[in-house]
Amino acid sequence: AALTQRRPSTARASRDLARAVECKSQFKVALLGAAGGIGQPLALLLKMNRYVSDLSLYDIVNVPGVAADLSHCNTPTQVKAFNGKESLEAALEGADLVVIPAGVPRKPGMTRDDLFNTNASIVQGLIEAAAKVCPKAILNIITNPVNSTVPITAETLKAAGVYDPKRVLGVSTLDVVRANTFVAEAKGLNVKDVDVPVVGGHAGITILPLLSQTQPKVNFSEDEVAKLTDRIQNAGTEVVEAKAGAGSATLSMAYAAARMAESVLAGLSGEGNVYECAFVDSQVTELPYFATKDIDTETTTERKLRTSLEAHFSEDLTSKKQVISEEVKRYLAEADARAN
Ligand code: NAI
Repeated sequence: AALTQRRPSTARASRDLARAVECKSQFKVALLGAAGGIGQPLALLLKMNRYVSDLSLYDIVNVPGVAADLSHCNTPTQVKAFNGKESLEAALEGADLVVIPAGVPRKPGMTRDDLFNTNASIVQGLIEAAAKVCPKAILNIITNPVNSTVPITAETLKAAGVYDPKRVLGVSTLDVVRANTFVAEAKGLNVKDVDVPVVGGHAGITILPLLSQTQPKVNFSEDEVAKLTDRIQNAGTEVVEAKAGAGSATLSMAYAAARMAESVLAGLSGEGNVYECAFVDSQVTELPYFATKDIDTETTTERKLRTSLEAHFSEDLTSKKQVISEEVKRYLAEADARAN
């Protein structure tokens, strides 16, 4: 519960309580890409999570060592290793939640879009297996570019006839985690109390922190809004450059993904008052996928930012390899052609 963001509330409706009693409180989680920079600390955090009874660790290399190491921690979660492509389906068997940080990370000078070709096919392969083995599982997609890997996940599930938009969540939680940290630092607030909704996508200017909706209520000058927004949007690059070729955010990402997983499992177990911003199939704007909170209450400045953001995405529809259903469909068609 420590990682989960909950709306402040004193009384929970008795309906929710009754539902919680009926609901499952122990879940099986499959972590794909478990031996990587994000995968290892995330596996540790999931091993410590009270909702997780079984943890399947899958990677194409090095999983047995990670699993043996973790299995010595005296928490009740059972850890199993699945190493290599032939064990993917077994890893997914019975999963309630599938968390995917499999793929290559950025190096200095790279954008998230530079990862598209490699990571798109990795995600597509993993989702095809999930569609077959655990079509009802919730999918948390961490692999970048999230703005593209989420549409790829959706198209792959549609092709398999098992797409449920409510089950596919692009993990943009790290943007929220960063926004909370930076705002608390800038305003001298206790970071535990701060909640900044971040809407839009998960790359550069598509990351849109709604600073006006920060909880607790706090005022920002225009200069502060500009500086904080810029830092939140480019925080990933800050880490990529500091690591100087050794990858991108792993520890903070593992923390953020553990928070997201905990929120999903709290929701599945029937708890009320749990929410997260995530990059999802959305009808709120003209864009097919968008992270939102409650955009009815956004300020004029935020509306302007969102409108220019939508323009940016639409431009990308025709000009760049980005988000985009059309581009993704073409990629999948090419992949099919290669496979046949
Ligand atoms: P990493 O290279 O340390 O680990 C990736 C792991 O994926 C490796 O263990 C590798 O063996 C595994 N892998 C590769 N192909 C696979 C396949 N077909 N099936 C299963 N596993 C496979 O990379 P790191 O730092 O853990 O990053 C992983 C991904 O997460 C990258 O795409 C990165 O850009 C993304 N990321 C996303 C963030 C977000 O906010 N959503 C933040 C930071 C990173």
